[in-house]
Amino acid sequence: MTLVVLAVAIGFGPAGLAAEKPLDATHGMVVSVSPPASDAGLAILRQGGNAVDAAVATAFVLAVTWPSAGNVGGGGFMMIHPGRGQGPVCVEYRETAPAAATPRMFENDPRMDGHKVCGTPGTVAGLALAHRTYGKLAWRDLVMPAVRLARDGFAVDRPLAGSLNGVLAKSRQFAELQRVFAPPSGKAKWQPGDRLVQPELAQSLDRIAAGGPDAFYRGPIAGRIAAEMKAGGGLITCRDLAAYRARIRAPIHGTYRGYDVFAPPPPSSGGICLVQMLNVLEHFKLSEDPAPQGRGQSPSRWSPQTMHLVIETMRRAYCDRARYLGDPDFTAIPPHLTAKDYAKRLAAQIDPARATPSETLAPEITLASESEETTHFSVVDEKGMAVANTYTLENAFGSRVMVRGTGFLLNNEMTDFNRAPGRTDRKGLIGTPANLVAPGKRMLSSQTPTLVCRDGRPVLVTGSPGGRTIINTVLSTILQVVDFGSDVRQAVDAPRLHHQWFPDRAGFEGIGRPEYAATIERLRAMGHRFEPRASGQGDAHSIWIDPKTGRLWGAADKRICGKASGY
Ligand code: DON
Repeated sequence: MTLVVLAVAIGFGPAGLAAEKPLDATHGMVVSVSPPASDAGLAILRQGGNAVDAAVATAFVLAVTWPSAGNVGGGGFMMIHPGRGQGPVCVEYRETAPAAATPRMFENDPRMDGHKVCGTPGTVAGLALAHRTYGKLAWRDLVMPAVRLARDGFAVDRPLAGSLNGVLAKSRQFAELQRVFAPPSGKAKWQPGDRLVQPELAQSLDRIAAGGPDAFYRGPIAGRIAAEMKAGGGLITCRDLAAYRARIRAPIHGTYRGYDVFAPPPPSSGGICLVQMLNVLEHFKLSEDPAPQGRGQSPSRWSPQTMHLVIETMRRAYCDRARYLGDPDFTAIPPHLTAKDYAKRLAAQIDPARATPSETLAPEITLASESEETTHFSVVDEKGMAVANTYTLENAFGSRVMVRGTGFLLNNEMTDFNRAPGRTDRKGLIGTPANLVAPGKRMLSSQTPTLVCRDGRPVLVTGSPGGRTIINTVLSTILQVVDFGSDVRQAVDAPRLHHQWFPDRAGFEGIGRPEYAATIERLRAMGHRFEPRASGQGDAHSIWIDPKTGRLWGAADKRICGKASGY
């Protein structure tokens, strides 16, 4: 709800463009949802840390200052372009199903919170793997900024106050969460300027600073997680924690109009769907001229024809997502999905004048809608190393299970599995085999931290939260920049479009605004259906690196809040 209200409040300027300039810098930049997190990352860059060092520090600080999605009890994906002639990699730290998980464990249990929906967390292992492989500064120095903020406290800003008040009102049965996030004594609610102090979280982070990932996966913290699970009927054991491994995986690589695009492979669906959609759209001329970056906005951006092609492309990619994608250790992923000739066939199937009803693509499967909480940040350093990181607890504040005595929340990522084997219905249940629960399996994700490169060097670092909308938010940002001539500020501000195959309706942030009325009417006449109201889609904190000058241009997404910090 917060997202909806804010999106409406800021509006999206004429044709979605704001006059404001992105922040520019020459040495390094961090853009995230939380100002103290961006500043902490920037301080690490100034101390001589590289982009991975800054990303690790930013991620730990987000666990303190943006607790709805920043985390140590969740998981995610970090795309790294190491520079120095090396190609990008993906550090994958998605949560896993505990060993005791079974395919039918959620069949008659629709709960989205509580102990059973917690997956074995990956964040601490993932950040440690990224640091071990690419970091320069000492691990401890990267965790300590978060320890200090948790221990000494910090002033809550308006978005965080709203977020804390929201979860306190909605999670009365979670006593530890209520205790840890209780407003300052004597107050009924958080207000901007109040101080949030988190002594237990400080202690947990201090242990991680001193002991590295073992302090989390094997030491007293692991014991507390296992005890919490046992007390609440959850499944994660000390053995699950000790067995958890983050992975370095080869990213999905595609090309689009002379750019190289790198994004996470399965267990995220992001890379495959994004590259598949770009491959299809490459068959169409979306803008009149190749638009020079920063020129503003090509007039064809919101033409019925462009929007039609983009929606039809999204519909097809999301259908394949539901059919085929899951953890590659458990499910064979068909190689054709990102092939150029497959995209050519899909492009040829798009009727230029009519919407294709989603039923006709695969009548047997429907999809549920999703919540809007995760967080993405982007980092670039002086030497051109770039990091795009998206990580999550899944829903806002995850499972709402605050591990007693540790000050941190566990994810509800198990809800990203298909819950009922073989049962697929129009209300949104999916039972396709690729993403069913199995012990040790990673649940399918849509997280899409993305690096767009030119001549071997990153030019755009982007990504977003938003569940299944994530991939389309990233697509929108890339199209704005590559096809429609927006600078990074304009690209982030522009209204976004989403279609996920089922429900067979498009979401468009510009719906209801007079400047898009004629286009929407035309699209309706072509058979498209739209969500009746606009809601904010995503939160895409992004950086553009000018390929000619190397100058950095950053844009924090204003749909929630955020800050670009650079020097
Ligand atoms: O991994 C995923 O795709 C989801 N768990 C992400 C959830 C999400 O983005 C929710 N909010 N923004």
